[in-house]
Amino acid sequence: MGLKEELLTLKEEITKNLEKASNIQTLEEVRTQFLGKKGRLKHILKTLGKLSPEERKEIGKLANSIKEYIEQQIKEKENILKNLLLQEKLQKEKVDITLPSFWLDIGASHPVISTLVEISEIFLSMGFSIEEGPEIEFEEYNFDMLNIPKDHPARDMQDTFFLNNGMLLRTHTSPVQIRTMLKRNPPIAMIAPGRVYRKDADPTHSPMFHQIEGLMIDKDITFKDLKGILKIFLENVFGKDIPIRFRPSYFPFTEPSAEVDIGCTVCKGKGCRVCKGTGWLEILGCGMVDPNVFKAVDIDPEEYTGFAFGLGIERITMLKYQIGDIRILFENNMNFNNQFKGLR
Ligand code: DAH
Repeated sequence: MGLKEELLTLKEEITKNLEKASNIQTLEEVRTQFLGKKGRLKHILKTLGKLSPEERKEIGKLANSIKEYIEQQIKEKENILKNLLLQEKLQKEKVDITLPSFWLDIGASHPVISTLVEISEIFLSMGFSIEEGPEIEFEEYNFDMLNIPKDHPARDMQDTFFLNNGMLLRTHTSPVQIRTMLKRNPPIAMIAPGRVYRKDADPTHSPMFHQIEGLMIDKDITFKDLKGILKIFLENVFGKDIPIRFRPSYFPFTEPSAEVDIGCTVCKGKGCRVCKGTGWLEILGCGMVDPNVFKAVDIDPEEYTGFAFGLGIERITMLKYQIGDIRILFENNMNFNNQFKGLR
């Protein structure tokens, strides 16, 4: 076979091999096989010297054009393969944005805290300030100055956690009323959310629970103001149509005193186990500030009047979410807690 035929066969062979090359690696093999230092083309070119000058010129030209052709073919194929590789990669790494995202396990507020925040925000929106007091409290602030007599059952060792130093764990948030009135002159509009403690433990009582205290004092505050504010508050928490009633009651620090009931959220007033058949749920205590309380903090009861109220946050939370046993709120059972994710 003459050199010319050899070159043409080489061209044909390489074209076939290139067609077959299915990845960059085999393409590289083809390149070295034909164009490399020890490749077929180099081999043919080495024998050029044996030819006559005319032949050498002709074959040399042919060899060069074939070399160029091969190089170009390889380049083209390389581009195709690289493109394929890219497509494959894109396909493999494709992100389907319509898939649900993986669950980011972020924390959430405890239902008692969300209720506390919800109630606080309602009062903040009406211009009330938020006050705080210590959980370890003076007996004077917790009882005496609130007009709670020395022989009151709440003062019994059975009900109150007394500490060795003569102080106690506050049994209600009412001492924050005293602290605020000692600190500031009227007008006052405040709420005080916080923890309180009592020696009590059953399905509806926990030794630690949360209350919100409310107090409003000015020159012409009447029972009408109390009713109006509580109505706004209860309608915000339980809905516009919630039935509300005021029932006469007794608290040492208010006179007159009342307890407020809402229509049972479970049976809608028909009577059920939760409302013990009455159709009503007791929700908070309230009344007009007793003149004796004003006197204890040096506010003139002839000049100022005011109302106060107090409520248990766990109770409201339980009614809101129809929780039957208070203890589950403090067990840290994640199956329970997780149901409140995304609430706030
Ligand atoms: N301190 C009361 C309690 O713990 C609740 C309460 C009732 C607070 C009437 C008040 C009030 O401010 O006016 O049971």
